Amino acid sequence: MDEQFSFRVNGRDETVGCEPQTALLWVLRDLLGLTGTRFGCGAGSCGACTVLVDRSPVHSCDTPIWSVAGHAVTTIEGLSADGPHAVQRALVDHQAGQCGYCLSGIAVRSAALVDRAREESRTLDEAEVRDGLDGHLCRCGAHNRIVAAVLAAAEASP
Ligand code: FES
Ligand code: FES
Repeated sequence: MDEQFSFRVNGRDETVGCEPQTALLWVLRDLLGLTGTRFGCGAGSCGACTVLVDRSPVHSCDTPIWSVAGHAVTTIEGLSADGPHAVQRALVDHQAGQCGYCLSGIAVRSAALVDRAREESRTLDEAEVRDGLDGHLCRCGAHNRIVAAVLAAAEASP
């Protein structure tokens, strides 16, 4: 049976009606029209659906909407209030993607890594980026360009 759930998405208050177990991914895509978040495996194994909940990366495909009520969600569409995030700019500048299917999730997690390092006034190193992105599959094999772009974004940020 449908229930009402309220939460913030990219700085806006939203209320949706759906079953409590509905995955956040489908709420974002089908009820809120935020189609930048991708469906890959649907089983928490590929990272394509990654969004931030209270600034921590989660797989939206296996996150039930009831668990998000009262929290703040950030999707690829809302990574930065001032246009593209440094990570998004760097991914484009480095032509890091091929098909691009994996990049929404990778950009979201990478932005969280870059932003956290900046807040802590420390350098983000390659090992940390590779470890952070370990759970993100890229069937095009663009990993090395993606890592280079994220490191460039960390140097350029904000
Ligand atoms: S679609 Fe969510 S982890 Fe693959
Ligand atoms: S660029 Fe195609 S899956 Fe990563």
